[in-house]
Amino acid sequence: MTDGPWRRTAAGAGLVDDGGQVSSTIFAEMSALAVRTGAVNLGQGFPDEDGPAEVLAEAVAAIERGENQYPPGPGTLDLRHAISEHQARFYGLSPDPQGEVLVTAGATEALAATLLALVERGDEVLTFEPFYDAYGGLIALAGGRHRTVKLRAPDFQPDPEELRSAVSDRTRIILVNTPHNPTGTVLDRATLELVVELAERHDALIVTDEVYEHLTFDVPHVPIATLPGAAERTITISSGGKTFSTTGWKIGWLTAPRELVTAISTVKQFLTYVNGSPFQPATAVGLRLPDPSFRAIADGLRSKRDLLGAGLSAAGFSTFRPAGTYFIVADAAGLGWDDAAAFCRALPELAGVVAVPLSAFCTDRHDPEYASLVRFAFCKRTEVLERAVDGLGRLRS
Ligand SMILES: Cc1ncc(COP(=O)(O)O)c(C=O)c1O
Repeated sequence: MTDGPWRRTAAGAGLVDDGGQVSSTIFAEMSALAVRTGAVNLGQGFPDEDGPAEVLAEAVAAIERGENQYPPGPGTLDLRHAISEHQARFYGLSPDPQGEVLVTAGATEALAATLLALVERGDEVLTFEPFYDAYGGLIALAGGRHRTVKLRAPDFQPDPEELRSAVSDRTRIILVNTPHNPTGTVLDRATLELVVELAERHDALIVTDEVYEHLTFDVPHVPIATLPGAAERTITISSGGKTFSTTGWKIGWLTAPRELVTAISTVKQFLTYVNGSPFQPATAVGLRLPDPSFRAIADGLRSKRDLLGAGLSAAGFSTFRPAGTYFIVADAAGLGWDDAAAFCRALPELAGVVAVPLSAFCTDRHDPEYASLVRFAFCKRTEVLERAVDGLGRLRS
């Protein structure tokens, strides 16, 4: 168990890392590198194709209907209904659209408002590691202490004993992310059950980030809120960006027991207040798409995973087959690179591809556990992935 990467500055004016450096991300550096070199950007996880046409058409129609002013604070009632219907259809959950559903500016604002509302200074917040980079910053902004339990290759499931010993009465929130960015793992049922057991024993809340809920390939997605005893202490967070390839719309939501939604809403009203009027009805259309449309989204990505996975293997990487998300982790050690950050800086030159080191998602940027591991995104058009695979093939020669 380790402390997280970010601290608030003494003046509380921003975030600094252990070296006192002001927070910046490797994603910005790598995306700039992609632009400068013309390399294929498999660093940042955004799709380069539009999602379902019905969803896009509804946004246009909503703008034309004049839905361009502030929507209601908790989100449009119709979207809240669509979120509740979606939870019922796929998972048998039935949050009340009036009070148990809150629409947010992406999953990120749902996470921010939740942590700011529920974490007291010094409370511990436990996440798995590596973790989506916003977690560290948001926990620090909320004044919490970030604790982590490692997910290790090859399966990236936590060690149950490490998890048990990381949770105590000081733990306010266990923050789970499944399917998991950056590893692509889908946490197994036993892990989710253990999280619920520990949360109950230590009276902790569970926050679950399920933005990749529809992007699973070999296993079903199990929301932790469906497990016995979980719903009353769980805040479930998701968003439309990944499912409908609309990451720029930033329409997210959370579902939780009423009193938690009320507490979180009071913070949310002072963050963005509201966002994305025309994108809310469009996301409602997405959430009401028939089952085959959701299956098609995952199937399309599965073939991209297989294409890039095969290319990485052929280029000499060991790869870890992801069961979800649109990320694949590859080990560059077999190619003679022990330092993934150095490797990623060289990769545009060597192969015309941009990727990010897994250490970017870790507390200790030099953790030997992840030193040679690299994350590639495969949410790109087939011809783009083929170009990347061609370039990666040059690494062997
Ligand atoms: C695990 C995870 N949570 C949240 C987000 C952000 O979601 P949104 O764009 O809806 O704020 C991302 C985006 O990459 C993510 O990977």
